[in-house]
Amino acid sequence: MSDTDVLQLRGGAKVDGNIDIKGSKNALPKIMVAAMLTEERCEIENVSWLSDTRTMTELIEASGGTVGRSTAGLSIEVSTLGVPDTTAMREFSGRSRIPVLTCGPALHRTGEAYISSPGGCTIGPRPVDFHLDVLRRLGAETVDVPGGIQLSATRLTGAKIELPFPSVGATEQFLLSACLADGDSELCNAAVEPEILDLITVLQKMGSLINVETNRAITVTGVKRLRGFTHRVIPDRLEAASWASLALATDGEITLDGVRQQDLATYLNTYRRAGGDFEASPDGTTIRFWRSQSMLRPLAVETSVHPGFMTDWQSPFVTALTQADGISVIHETVYEDRTGYVDALKALGANIGLFTECLGGTTCRFARGNHPHSIVVVGPTKLQGTELHVPDLRAGFSYLIAAAAANGVSTITGIDLLDRGYENLRGKMATVGIDFE
Ligand code: EPU
Repeated sequence: MSDTDVLQLRGGAKVDGNIDIKGSKNALPKIMVAAMLTEERCEIENVSWLSDTRTMTELIEASGGTVGRSTAGLSIEVSTLGVPDTTAMREFSGRSRIPVLTCGPALHRTGEAYISSPGGCTIGPRPVDFHLDVLRRLGAETVDVPGGIQLSATRLTGAKIELPFPSVGATEQFLLSACLADGDSELCNAAVEPEILDLITVLQKMGSLINVETNRAITVTGVKRLRGFTHRVIPDRLEAASWASLALATDGEITLDGVRQQDLATYLNTYRRAGGDFEASPDGTTIRFWRSQSMLRPLAVETSVHPGFMTDWQSPFVTALTQADGISVIHETVYEDRTGYVDALKALGANIGLFTECLGGTTCRFARGNHPHSIVVVGPTKLQGTELHVPDLRAGFSYLIAAAAANGVSTITGIDLLDRGYENLRGKMATVGIDFE
């Protein structure tokens, strides 16, 4: 562990300040993959320099492309695409889930691709079976090889595919593969998150023919070639909600610049129901957050795919609910194992428990299987600083929120993991007045 990987945070300071929100962590790297579909130059603006951005930069360079960095953003040119060797692909995949999405460009331009077990946050088994199914249905042949799966295809061909669950990654896999396939494709039960619509916007700029239909269907008519693009990445609605939850938990005030109100609609409604309030600028790109009443209200919240309450918003928001007056019930329906942070909140003194039953609403696919995916919080509790270790990205931010709301000092280790999703975290913490070293 490096010196920068430990943070000592003294809670109780009132947070107050402005935070700049940059391009979405979960949109940018997929747009970088889209740039691998063309030999022309692509320009990307509003770039956050996060670990997935670095991994994709290195992967594109290892594939024979160039990535230039400027103050405005990134410029990518992959005039000839090669496939990195399997050792390199294993290394990239160990760091991130994005490399699995390079199969479409690799198959179209080289006839082969390789999938190894993908990395990313440890929030459940996170398999890639839906991705493989999409690629197979579009005509890729797969062979198990040591450490992964080798794929090949002379041409990908359009197909009608239905996902068992509206997976973000599998929908992106479909889009990045079907856009250059022969003929028409259709994906039913697709995810329609704003980050996916941003990728579709990019693919449309490149010359793709993609329709988002009603009822979660996406249709694609394959084209022969795609051209370069210039695109400004949508703001990161996950980072935005994280800072807003900090304001709610600590009774502070935070103004976010560079956001998009419509991408936060469900979060904003839930924020108000819990006793927070916000004021948005006319164009919705600046939003100020604060508490509208001294004591927060308890809630029942269920995470879901878009336009529902995002799973990534869950742990920061639940941390704020430790300060609500009464019983809150939270049902996580996207990941079976995204409640690991609850033990840390208990260590800080929160009155919080986990249940394997589906509490509070629908019965989800984790109803059987003994997954602790429902949470009950009884508040308000004055939290007390303690020692914490960051297990995954969003849980890590929740620890910051909890420590900032607590009395006394907390020592948080593993803080570097937050660099995966929060650019200039320490600078932004200082800007809003968090007392840390
Ligand atoms: N799933 C499968 N098989 C698959 C793919 C997914 O069973 O082949 C399951 C997953 O295990 C999960 C559910 O389907 O239970 C949804 O997974 P999804 O594919 O939608 O997630 P993802 O694409 O791997 C992205 C974000 C996550 C975010 C989810 C949900 C990126 C790089 N990651 O993951 O972001 O939580 O969508 O919105 O875009 C984060 O930013 O902290 C983060 C984890």
